[in-house]
Amino acid sequence: MTSSTQTILEYTRIPRHIAVIMDGNGRWAKKRFLPRVIGHKRGLDALENMVRNCAELGVQYLTVFAFSTENWRRPEDEVSFLMGLFAQALQKQVYRLHENNMRVKVIGNRSRFNEVIYRGIEEAEALTAGNTGLTLTIAVDYGGRWDILQAVNSLIKQGETEINEEMLAGSLMSSYAPEPDLFIRTGGETRISNFLLWQMAYAELYFTDTLWPDFDKDALNTAIESFQMRERRFGRTSEQLPVEQQRDGASC
Ligand code: IPE
Ligand code: IPE
Ligand code: MG
Repeated sequence: MTSSTQTILEYTRIPRHIAVIMDGNGRWAKKRFLPRVIGHKRGLDALENMVRNCAELGVQYLTVFAFSTENWRRPEDEVSFLMGLFAQALQKQVYRLHENNMRVKVIGNRSRFNEVIYRGIEEAEALTAGNTGLTLTIAVDYGGRWDILQAVNSLIKQGETEINEEMLAGSLMSSYAPEPDLFIRTGGETRISNFLLWQMAYAELYFTDTLWPDFDKDALNTAIESFQMRERRFGRTSEQLPVEQQRDGASC
């Protein structure tokens, strides 16, 4: 793997918003003959480091997929472990995020959460609402299709009969954030798994075999370096872009 001493990042071109599918916790544990849930615990440690590293680099929005609408299909004991871990993280780690001026948001369908989690989310969001540092969005019981549907349904409820892109984008759960510039999926799979479907229309996609608990600062730097090598054309030709964005530049 590229070491941080070899990775030369352009600090003026750090992605404003990074979205991550934190995949591979189970396989990380399996490789070590440990129960899958230990992989999830280590995954939470990796997330803590990721938040710190992103904040240090000046990333403004970090959105992580922690539990999908489809993950309810997992064995009951794994689901309840994950929910317990989420509840614990809400209680223990939110204060540290708050001390560091970070804002916490949770996106997803909250209807299946127990009271402790439900209240934990509300408190975390309220406590950190006024913070101006990195916005950490945790997608839990989230699905991209669900998000688009809830946006459409809420517009219908408001009496709208014709919906345009701006209205729809403004009704998505993540409407407070710009669209992701960089999408990272760890764990080797090269699919989106129903994450931010609408929002990622122009995200740069980065896939790595590294399992989430092993995704460290060097791995993040390598992903950002890959992002910085790309030319984001948004439908235009290369020649139409400002000179500084041509060839190896990536606009944020
Ligand atoms: C991602 O790791 C975490 C969640 C989906 C909650 P996995 O649990 O999917 O790990 P693998 O893919 O089985 O290794
Ligand atoms: C995607 O990972 C969801 C999260 C990381 C929370 P999965 O492991 O559930 O995705 P699939 O099943 O391999 O597509
Ligand atoms: Mg997985």
